[in-house]
Amino acid sequence: MDLVIINGPNLNFLGIREPDVYGKETLEDLEQKIKAYAEDRGHTCDFFQSNTEGSLIDRIQQAHSEQADGIILNPAAYTHYSYAIHDAVKSVGIPTVEVHLSNIHAREAFRNKSVVASACIGQISGFGATGYTLAIHALEEQ
Ligand code: DQA
Repeated sequence: MDLVIINGPNLNFLGIREPDVYGKETLEDLEQKIKAYAEDRGHTCDFFQSNTEGSLIDRIQQAHSEQADGIILNPAAYTHYSYAIHDAVKSVGIPTVEVHLSNIHAREAFRNKSVVASACIGQISGFGATGYTLAIHALEEQ
């Protein structure tokens, strides 16, 4: 499978940002882990991170022109209010798994809701970096 892994705002600050919540690994560490797991299983992966909503939507749409087989998406704070990202995921019709490093259901009330999840095949939340490899496994089963 050709996979696109998209991370939203502030995830470029992994390692610096609230390490008690998000761990000490950097985004680069995380991407290396995902890449090694994906390539071992014969998949390709392309990584993208942005702090802006429009760029995330553009990358989701680009996955359509690339005929990607799956998207793994951590929309970060946009999860909780971006109908535009929900619509982008719906528009491309590519199986998408929503991933969160932390358990969004066990945190502040505003994080308990995802407006993106209903456009996705499923959501994985609270398993740190493992969530991304679990998402690859879920896409393999599609
Ligand atoms: C996050 C959870 C979001 O609530 C938060 O805004 C993030 C990261 C996670 O991976 O746990 O930026 O998506």
